[in-house]
Amino acid sequence: MKVLVATEKPFSKVAVDGIKAVTDAAGYELVLLEKYTEKNQLLSAVADADALIIRSDKVDAEVLDAAKNLKIVVRAGAGYDNIDLDAATAHKVVAMNTPGQNANSVAELVFGLLVYAVRNFFNGTSGTELKGKKLGILAFGNVGRNVARIAKGFGMEIAAYDAYCPKEAIEAAGVMAVDNQEALFETCDIVSLHIPATPETKQSINAELVNKLKKGGILVNTARKEVINEPELLALLAERTDLKYVTDIKPDMDAEFAEKLAGRYFATPKKMGAQTAEANVNAGIAAANQIVGYLEQGITKFQVNK
Ligand code: 3PG
Repeated sequence: MKVLVATEKPFSKVAVDGIKAVTDAAGYELVLLEKYTEKNQLLSAVADADALIIRSDKVDAEVLDAAKNLKIVVRAGAGYDNIDLDAATAHKVVAMNTPGQNANSVAELVFGLLVYAVRNFFNGTSGTELKGKKLGILAFGNVGRNVARIAKGFGMEIAAYDAYCPKEAIEAAGVMAVDNQEALFETCDIVSLHIPATPETKQSINAELVNKLKKGGILVNTARKEVINEPELLALLAERTDLKYVTDIKPDMDAEFAEKLAGRYFATPKKMGAQTAEANVNAGIAAANQIVGYLEQGITKFQVNK
């Protein structure tokens, strides 16, 4: 069996070594395609692969057409909006993710971004502390739960809303559950986004919603750029000069955001949420194990195209 790791943004070496240990033990061949810049490179590398490990790399119908032997693709990470699930099903390819494996890494970055924002991007002026501020967590999945855990250490008040998670489960984690996302924006100083990019959530973070934030509010996005209505957010933030936006996913309109919101906007040059050795090891090795589990024993626990 041939396993291809196709990562435009590579894993750490220790993670690749860990993946190789798993594939070696199974008697599989491991091939790396890292830092590729053209889709054609992926199309030729995938041609004879039986299994594929990716990160945010796009797997669409064209890639699946080119992958004649492919049986399984594992997104080493949480969000699988980069895989065309219908096309995978049509090609009889099992698609999986590795939920939770990089969650702490993403959650820690939320606080890196927040400290940077409340200290005025380290420009020397007097900022504020996170202690005593109210943090709203939008979606209480693996990342949201880790954000809540860390926020307690900062002495923050914490509220959350999740359309798919019962209030009781949120409250069992020691977090105040609110009825809807509007209530979260209305009552919190900071809102942290952890929703996936789906047809329901795309562009759902719009001007009407963000305008509900309290004076001096901060929106932090370590989820997906697609959930933001960029023109509306830009126009609102240009007007509401008290608000800040910090994001780990550069908007398509990054240049306009940077120009119009100078001193109140920051985007990481490259998505860094899951870019730690620990997250790479956790997600990469989980992906390799899930491939072996599926090919050897038919285990489909984390399949997302059922
Ligand atoms: C995820 O969905 O797991 C995160 O967004 C991390 O994405 P990455 O593997 O491309 O860094």
